[in-house]
Amino acid sequence: MTKEELCTLAKEAMQNSYSPYSNCKVGAALLSDSGKVYLGCNIENASFSPTICAERSAFAAAVSAGERKFSAIAVTGGKNGEIDGAFYPCGVCRQVLREFCDDDFPIYVLTKNGIISLTLKDLLPYSFSNEVM
Ligand code: THU
Repeated sequence: MTKEELCTLAKEAMQNSYSPYSNCKVGAALLSDSGKVYLGCNIENASFSPTICAERSAFAAAVSAGERKFSAIAVTGGKNGEIDGAFYPCGVCRQVLREFCDDDFPIYVLTKNGIISLTLKDLLPYSFSNEVM
């Protein structure tokens, strides 16, 4: 699976976004070591704080299916579903990624100008993880 293919799946995952409050549609495609791809979208709530991001939604689907090891994630999103600037994973999602992924885990962020390729360490340096527990 190429990063372009994974980003295409993240874009498709945006379609299921439930985001009546922000009107921001976000999609994520999480590739497991087993080769399966798990999709996630943001799911908002009238009470706001129960909102779950697309990345955590994808992890919830994958972990619920028994997956524990992952190869890469692609994320994209945009106001009213129009991809423009970078929808980087939020701080909470970065910490959730760190539970299952190492510093060199690839993160692809699809923007209107192309794919930004990052690692988890780029987004979450000096991270806290279960390695010290
Ligand atoms: N959102 C995500 O799905 N992922 C992120 O990492 C950043 C934010 C969603 C949450 C909310 O539904 C909308 O984007 C606006 O914050």
